[in-house]
Amino acid sequence: MKIKKILVTGGTGGIGSSIVACLSAQPGFVVHAPSRSELDLGLQESIKEYFSRSSDYDIVINNAGINTPQNIEQIETEQIETALNINLVAPLLVIKYCVPHMKRQGFGRIVNVSSIWGIRSKERRTLYSATKFGLNGMTRSLARELGPFNILVNSICPGYVDTALTRKNVTPKEQEKIRQEIPLRRFAEPREIAESIAFLVSERNSYMTGQTLIVDGGFIA
Ligand SMILES: NC(=O)c1ccc[n+]([C@@H]2O[C@H](COP(=O)([O-])OP(=O)(O)OC[C@H]3O[C@@H](n4cnc5c(N)ncnc54)[C@H](OP(=O)(O)O)[C@@H]3O)[C@@H](O)[C@H]2O)c1
Repeated sequence: MKIKKILVTGGTGGIGSSIVACLSAQPGFVVHAPSRSELDLGLQESIKEYFSRSSDYDIVINNAGINTPQNIEQIETEQIETALNINLVAPLLVIKYCVPHMKRQGFGRIVNVSSIWGIRSKERRTLYSATKFGLNGMTRSLARELGPFNILVNSICPGYVDTALTRKNVTPKEQEKIRQEIPLRRFAEPREIAESIAFLVSERNSYMTGQTLIVDGGFIA
């Protein structure tokens, strides 16, 4: 079996570190998770430079993302640019640079880490939802375009995951209220998101593409 080379962005984060641990533990995978100093997703020049050195990834997981909830009047112009760049433009560029290798070998798996706020939304998530809805749209278009080359493209939409990002954006009181609205009555462990991604990028997934897989304990059902 050919060893598959995987790129995971945001591999230092709450969900990203679980993705790296989960995939590294599986035979046949070599996982690369560049730090921000090696690949700054907010800077298009940094992205171009990184992939000019190496772009032969068989599997790409666009996981890095930011979420800074704000009322519309508080949003600064520079913050719009930053959110769009990191959450939307960067995944697009990463895919653009990795697709030629995938096409050449007739195999590729791409997972974009989106959010339930890319399916529905809530107050103070204007920028976040704009980028995550965009990511889900991009996933569908790419799935159609790249399907003939056996490159499967999916989004995963986590609900509330027990991470530092969630604890920063949701007060303990709100967390308790939300837990009662989740049919499973708890937030996801990062490992549970990683396991779903592991399936999507594996050869066991041979027919699922263009999907937005919701992993939210039933929250938006
Ligand atoms: N946590 C949740 O409940 C939840 C729910 C739904 C969806 N998500 C999505 O899941 C993904 C991961 O979230 P998380 O909770 O693991 O977030 P996190 O702990 O805040 O991690 C974010 C990751 O993105 C990286 N990153 C941010 N800006 C970057 C930049 N300019 N260049 C390179 N890397 C950058 C961070 O790197 P540094 O270490 O350098 O900062 C970090 O590794 C995100 O796309 C998020 O939107 C999360």
